[in-house]
Amino acid sequence: MREIQIFDTTLRDGEQSPGVNLNTNEKLEIASQLERLGVNVMEAGFPAASPGDFEAVQAIANQVQKATVAALSRSVVKDIDRAYEAIKGAVSPRIHVFIATSQIHMQHKLQKTPDQVLEIARAMVKHTKKYVSDVQFSAEDAGRSDIEYLKRIIEAVIDEGATVINVPDTVGFLMPEEYGELIRRLKTEIPNSHKAQFSGHCHNDLGLAVANSLAGIRNGLDQVEGTINGIGERAGNAAIEEIAMSLYTRANYFQAKTTLDLSQISRTSMLVSRLTGMMVPRNKAIVGANAFAHESGIHQDGMLKDKSTYEIITPETIGLKKSSLVLGKHSGRHAFKDKLQELGFAISEELVNKAFEQFKDLADKKKEVTDADISAIVEGEVITT
Ligand code: KIV
Ligand code: ZN
Repeated sequence: MREIQIFDTTLRDGEQSPGVNLNTNEKLEIASQLERLGVNVMEAGFPAASPGDFEAVQAIANQVQKATVAALSRSVVKDIDRAYEAIKGAVSPRIHVFIATSQIHMQHKLQKTPDQVLEIARAMVKHTKKYVSDVQFSAEDAGRSDIEYLKRIIEAVIDEGATVINVPDTVGFLMPEEYGELIRRLKTEIPNSHKAQFSGHCHNDLGLAVANSLAGIRNGLDQVEGTINGIGERAGNAAIEEIAMSLYTRANYFQAKTTLDLSQISRTSMLVSRLTGMMVPRNKAIVGANAFAHESGIHQDGMLKDKSTYEIITPETIGLKKSSLVLGKHSGRHAFKDKLQELGFAISEELVNKAFEQFKDLADKKKEVTDADISAIVEGEVITT
């Protein structure tokens, strides 16, 4: 089974979510938790972006013991020098240089020809190699780049010693089959591709970031990039917890695994949500409040008989105590009786029936019936009658 490296960019691309701004202490707290989760690489920030980012990257580089710490840099000498200053104290430092390779970006943003961009990429990887052995190169907007040009630029930077080649779908444009095919072709058609690891970095503009990342893994990616809770620019990045749980749940399908401590997923998600202020939607896969909650009577009945009927993942796997049966208008008698037992009410079948009727009346008026509501029904209404 192949081992997929997890590159976490919560502290860099994740922090680029509009409205998010983390201070150094908050970043250090997240970095410690990412170490507990067991990410292989954490991108600590973009040191040339601001003095605050520089300070945070430096502090993280000095603190982290197990993971590789990466610093992002444009393909510009002064940015690379700054990245090295920030990262040099790390046990395992990586500098991540990027330049755009799509015609749209080269023409409108960089205002350079493809040949000029190729020469800059080659020279900047060479410059970075003077500082660190571990150099990641990203072809920004690879998803909309001409594949023949991509092959040329990637071959050139591998010749200069790039150790990891990242293939970003920067604007979340590709479909899973297309992204998978792109990775397959780059890996098979670039003559020196075996000298570097290939990494995937997918954005979620069409809601496909995780699907595209998984398609990339099926087609040979060695590393996958993402953020906790999928936060990031615009619609966000691929959610690491979803990728990791897909690989875990469908290990036979992917023939690939991560070395994450999955039991830290819930804790990591809650910490990132609290410190960034980015609420996790209730129905978000894996870490949303409803991910292990069951409301309908048929589902609750199945769950009470055997959890595998409606859960493909146990909540314990991601560090949660148990699933919840939420009582609402779709709930049935079986779940209701189970709740009475959990709340410590041992009442006759006749009283259960009365209480159940009142519960159904209340559930029609209220979206979720709480434990306090059930207690009030049983104590106030039923027991006194
Ligand atoms: O989305 C992107 O292209 C990036 C690069 C800087 C890797 O975040
Ligand atoms: Zn990105």
